[in-house]
Amino acid sequence: MRDIVALVGGIPRAHRAVLAMGHSAVLVVRRSDLSPDLARLPVEEIVLLEEEDDAALAVAALERQLTAADAGLSHCVAFHDDYHELASRIADSFGLPYYVNPHSVRDTKDKARARAIADRLGPAPRRHHAFRHPAEVAAHMDGVSEWVVKPVSGVSSRSVTPVRSHAALRAAVEAAPETTEWLLEERLTGAEYSVEAWSVEGEHHVLGITARRSFPGTFVPMEHVFPARLTPQEAGTVEEFVGRFLTEAGATNGPAHVEVIVQDGRVDLIECQLRLGGGGICELVRLTRGVDLLHEAAVQALGGSVDPEAWPPAEGVAVSTFVHGHLPGGRVASNGVPASVTRLPGVRAVDAQWQVGAESRALSSGADRWMSLTTTGADEDAARTRTDEALAQLDLRLRVNAGDAH
Ligand SMILES: Nc1ncnc2c1ncn2[C@@H]1O[C@H](COP(=O)(O)OP(=O)(O)O)[C@@H](O)[C@H]1O
Ligand SMILES: [Mg+2]
Repeated sequence: MRDIVALVGGIPRAHRAVLAMGHSAVLVVRRSDLSPDLARLPVEEIVLLEEEDDAALAVAALERQLTAADAGLSHCVAFHDDYHELASRIADSFGLPYYVNPHSVRDTKDKARARAIADRLGPAPRRHHAFRHPAEVAAHMDGVSEWVVKPVSGVSSRSVTPVRSHAALRAAVEAAPETTEWLLEERLTGAEYSVEAWSVEGEHHVLGITARRSFPGTFVPMEHVFPARLTPQEAGTVEEFVGRFLTEAGATNGPAHVEVIVQDGRVDLIECQLRLGGGGICELVRLTRGVDLLHEAAVQALGGSVDPEAWPPAEGVAVSTFVHGHLPGGRVASNGVPASVTRLPGVRAVDAQWQVGAESRALSSGADRWMSLTTTGADEDAARTRTDEALAQLDLRLRVNAGDAH
């Protein structure tokens, strides 16, 4: 009988890494998550689940596909943190081991639970409250001058808002009626980093630390620098925090993306996701450390051994810069990338996210950014110089009616 792998959920590039290893596969995904990239994967079948379907229905559908294909299930893998729970239940039904601890995923994806885990690490808990209706927290806002209100399971900085009053909190919540569960937490200040880590049988390895800066006045990332310029002592403090956090969260295997903020030497949690980092961070790791994290994730998910300590050290520095412009009522007139820009030394990627003709949008989440530009250099300054040279040559314009502006 043939062996088939069940690829559960999203992250098509990780699924492709499994397929590139020569496996035949069936994709299992919720209908609402079936993106064009997933639909194009060269799998034998796609099992589509409705939102309300549980693991038992997924298993029954998969069994029908396997019988029809006269095949057995050799592995069940997921790379998207929304799907580990389902994938682990499917694996269980087929008597297969599952490499990620689904409880640790649930406890970190939920930012209120992750906050509680960070609080257990000390030295002193931060003020925070999970809520559904603003009235629940009205009596709890005294004593902290600034808070951040955010969805308990948000992405791309969507609806993350600093608030100083209950009225402002109410306005933030009313502006996002689709969000039902919220977290209110003390606003922390300091330098922000994201930490890419990798767990192997409960041992945590830090692959590197990325410095992050947001667009002024927003929480939307404007720049990533990998590896961040830190003293060994600063890096050690961050690594130690991340290791303790992942242990406390019960992470067992697989990648982790941990966002932290450092204020007066104290490291604190912003959020932790037990998956590969988004926002192009895997690419920054590949460009500097020469390791393909998608491939490594595929190897580990399939039960192979990975050894993060053996991956080559970083050489040079990679910088990703995001571009955004806004003109109320305007449209994108040009986001041209001349070939001469992509050929500039050190320019590694220019990704236009917006199409010409798209309506200009104010910056309220990562999805509103126009484009990203990634460069490398011997050090951070060299990479930045190349970024500046490339930006100067890009043709980025917005237009309202006949008038031009930027
Ligand atoms: N408690 C906080 N204090 C200060 N800044 C915060 C806090 N929580 C979130 N932020 C800022 O908002 C950004 C987005 O919040 P985050 O929890 O990472 O949500 P998302 O999952 O949408 O990325 C963070 O990168 C950080 O800049
Ligand atoms: Mg974040």
